[in-house]
Amino acid sequence: MTLILPTISFLILMPTIDAKLAQTITLNNGYKMPIIGLGTFESDPGDNERAVGDAIAIGYRHIDTAYFYKNEKEVGNAVRTKIAEGLIKREDIFVTTKLWSTFHEPGYVEKAFKRSFDNLNLTYIDLYLIHYPVPFQRLLKNDSFSVNDVSSFQLSPVDENGNTLTADVDYLIVWHAMEKLVESGQVRSIGLSNFNSEQTERVLSNSKIKPVTNQVECHPNLNQRKLIEFSTARNVTITAYSPLGRPSSSNGKKLAIFDPKVLELAKKYNKTPAQIILRYTIQNGAIVIPKSTNKNRMKENFNIFDFELSNSDMQFMHQLNNNYRLFEYSSEKNHKYYPFNIEF
Ligand code: A2P
Repeated sequence: MTLILPTISFLILMPTIDAKLAQTITLNNGYKMPIIGLGTFESDPGDNERAVGDAIAIGYRHIDTAYFYKNEKEVGNAVRTKIAEGLIKREDIFVTTKLWSTFHEPGYVEKAFKRSFDNLNLTYIDLYLIHYPVPFQRLLKNDSFSVNDVSSFQLSPVDENGNTLTADVDYLIVWHAMEKLVESGQVRSIGLSNFNSEQTERVLSNSKIKPVTNQVECHPNLNQRKLIEFSTARNVTITAYSPLGRPSSSNGKKLAIFDPKVLELAKKYNKTPAQIILRYTIQNGAIVIPKSTNKNRMKENFNIFDFELSNSDMQFMHQLNNNYRLFEYSSEKNHKYYPFNIEF
């Protein structure tokens, strides 16, 4: 069945074009979020600070990081440097970070947030997300003894067979602790990541503060049409991570970015396949956060606001969807909060 593009998301994501800076979307709490940001997952640690600085110089005003990525300090340093240079003011840039799954238990949300807050050192955080609904056990690293220091814990606790050691904390409890962070004034918006529609609905019906976004894997091969339609109808945006489909680690999978027909489209619009793909996901109703540390590719990925895919080309792109998911976490599939066991 072909879904009709939700008009509301199209309208929200098509404000006036400013060639130099990215367009923004107004979130359900009134704050504005640029609809393109720089992803930093698996950015080379030695290169990340330079890359974030380059991105800001190019015009990116939205940077996505996470405690799990171990690069918050570098992101914060780069942003503070650009503020000191007078290129931006703090309020010009939108910085997202995320609560990792080992810190879902009461008491640890605040500790983990404080660590991310201190790492970034940016006066406030724009957006704090629950990284993943499945909680993990807290295991101390071999050389660590302090249960009060979040850096003492392993980020990916596994048993002797390599299976994730999950825990049992309701993500609603986590959400309520996230709400308190907003009340403290240190974070402006809170949201979700890797939540499915039922989990999103459960948070929406049991919260004082609504999530502003759900950050999920989204690219032409997993275009998330149903989740986008569902979320947009509830005033929750979708942020697309790995919007290019991680071309460098595709392992021979047929990604849209390598499709000869996408290459033909790229020629038609005088753009690159990556630009066609990012533009598609924006017109599909999501915010995109392509990762790159390469200055030319960062420029390329940012340069997608001077053209528009026609309806028929959007229809062609829609049918590339084959629900191909790059990030699956198979050893967590039996956990009650594993998000990818239902259709969307
Ligand atoms: P690099 O950092 O060397 O540019 P995704 O955001 O979908 O997870 O994809 C990230 C991967 O895609 C990274 O390996 C990145 O490599 C690469 N990449 C980023 N931008 C482009 C582009 N415009 N064309 C091709 N590959 C890209």
